[in-house]
Amino acid sequence: MSITINKNESYRMFDRIARCYDFVNLFISLGMHQGWRKKMMLHLPACKDQNVLDLATGTGDVAFTLARESRVAKVTGLDLSTGMLTVAGKKAINDDLDQKVRFIEGDAQHIPAKSQSYDAITISFGIRNVPNTSKCLADALRVLKPSGKMIILESALPRSRILRFFSLIHVRYVLPVLGWLLSGDPYAYRYLDKTIRTYPHGKDFLAMMVGVGFKNTGFQSLALGGVNLYWGEKQ
Ligand SMILES: C[S@@+](CC[C@H](N)C(=O)[O-])C[C@H]1O[C@@H](n2cnc3c(N)ncnc32)[C@H](O)[C@@H]1O
Repeated sequence: MSITINKNESYRMFDRIARCYDFVNLFISLGMHQGWRKKMMLHLPACKDQNVLDLATGTGDVAFTLARESRVAKVTGLDLSTGMLTVAGKKAINDDLDQKVRFIEGDAQHIPAKSQSYDAITISFGIRNVPNTSKCLADALRVLKPSGKMIILESALPRSRILRFFSLIHVRYVLPVLGWLLSGDPYAYRYLDKTIRTYPHGKDFLAMMVGVGFKNTGFQSLALGGVNLYWGEKQ
């Protein structure tokens, strides 16, 4: 049996793997994801008492990293997967962060918030799963306050041909098998290969940010080009 998972339904796949997501993530990122999250924090605005939104929050790790920043007062984590949000909610209570972080179910393309509500918006390994990237970026721009920042972490393909070759072998063959063995779901991590190969990255992704109106955009390659950190500002 083969299953085709389209972007509209990708969050259902996360419902199935929610309980083992953090465990698999640790393996497939080789433990580097904590360092990437710290790099995201370097791009937060400088102001105090920030109200921050983490889109496609999953099991909430970026939301918790944000909550530990002294200049952040409140964090909202939004996701479409009830399963992922249930895990996130339990972690918030265990880590004593439930006063500062709240989780809501919602679509990153239709953010349930008034315009100009947030000082910063983050999205980590989520925007590739959202059906319409420009819609998500445009709605994020709407709910950002003037001078607010959007910070995005996403998979990419290295520029070097050799690294790109090994990276494709990794996402096409190694990750699906590893994901299957660790999560027990044979289809979950196959989806990564297709989306990582076809999703715009680097300057092409920045062009989408600029296209919806972000200013002062930029990006940094991490993990030998396998991951990109993007940022942009609302003027
Ligand atoms: C790979 S996980 C990333 C989770 C987390 N941000 C992290 O860095 O570990 C992708 C998440 O995107 C969520 N997602 C997919 N489509 C979405 C949408 N349209 N709106 C909100 N969340 C969505 C999925 O439910 C899933 O939790």
